Amino acid sequence: MSANSPAFAGSVPEHYHRRLVPLIFDGYARDLARRVRVDANMAILETACGTGAVTRALRRRVDSSVRIIATDLSREMGDYAKAVDDPPLENTSFREVDATELPYADRKFAAVVSQFGVMFFPDKPKAYAEAFRVLQPGGLFAFSTWDSFEVNPLTAVARDAAAPLLPDDVPPFMSIPFSYFDLNLIRRDLSAAGFGEIRLCVLPGLARAAHAREAAEAFVFGSPLGAQLDQAGQQAAGIDALEQAISQRFGAGPLEAPMQAIVVEAFKPT
Ligand SMILES: C[S@@+](CC[C@H](N)C(=O)[O-])C[C@H]1O[C@@H](n2cnc3c(N)ncnc32)[C@H](O)[C@@H]1O
Repeated sequence: MSANSPAFAGSVPEHYHRRLVPLIFDGYARDLARRVRVDANMAILETACGTGAVTRALRRRVDSSVRIIATDLSREMGDYAKAVDDPPLENTSFREVDATELPYADRKFAAVVSQFGVMFFPDKPKAYAEAFRVLQPGGLFAFSTWDSFEVNPLTAVARDAAAPLLPDDVPPFMSIPFSYFDLNLIRRDLSAAGFGEIRLCVLPGLARAAHAREAAEAFVFGSPLGAQLDQAGQQAAGIDALEQAISQRFGAGPLEAPMQAIVVEAFKPT
C-alpha cells in the first residue's frame, strides 16, 4: 500500500459499505454508471472499486454480455466486495490491482471507470497513462474526484471536529480526497497521458442522514479515522465531537448537507 493510500482494512470495509456508501457515494455511483455506454461483448475495467458501489450500478445498466473487472489496491475492500456479491453478479470479477500498474493487455477495455479513487493514486499521470494504454481507441475513461473542502462542508466539519483529538492534526486520509480538484491540473494530467476530448463536470449532490450521530459514526467507523481515534484513546470522544459539530451545523436530523464532486469523461482518440 502506498504512502498516499490509507488503510481501508480491518472492520473499515464493512462499515464503509453499510454507512459511508449510502451517506455520500451511492448517488454519485449511479451518475457515473449512467455515463458509461459500451457495446455488447465489450469489457469494462473499474479501478479503486472499493466495496463495489459503482460495480453494482454498472452491472444494472450494461448488457449482461459485457465483462466487468472490478479492481482495488486493498485486498480487504475487494474481499468485502466479493462477500456482499452473493449471489455473484453475472460476468463480473473482483481483483487486487494497483491502478498505477495495470496487469492488462493494451487496448483490452472499452471503458475504464474509477469513483473517488484517483486522489489516492500517488502518481496520477502514471495511472492515467495506464488507463489510456488499456483502452481501445475511442474508449472512455470516466472517473470522479471530490471538489474542495469549502464545497463539502459535512466532511470539513467532521475533519475540524476530529483534528484536535488526533496527534497529527488532520490525518492525510481526510485531506487527500479533497486535494485534487484543480480543473486545469486534471486536464493537463489527462492530456499528458494522451487523452483527446476531455469533459469536466462540477456535480453538486446532497448527503442525507437520519440523524447527526449516524453521519458521525459513518465517518468514524467507515474510514481509517476510527482506528486513529482509537489509537489516541479518543474513539468515543471523537464520535461525540463529530455528532455535536454536525448537529450544530446541519441540525440533529433528519439532515441534508451539500456536497460537490468533479466528474471527468476523457476519450482516447480513435
Ligand atoms: C474512497 S474509496 C472509493 C471506493 C469506491 N470506488 C466507491 O465509490 O465506494 C477509495 C478506494 O481507492 C482505493 N485505492 C487507493 N489507492 C489505490 C491504488 N493505487 N490503486 C487502486 N485502488 C486504490 C482504496 O483501497 C479505496 O478502496
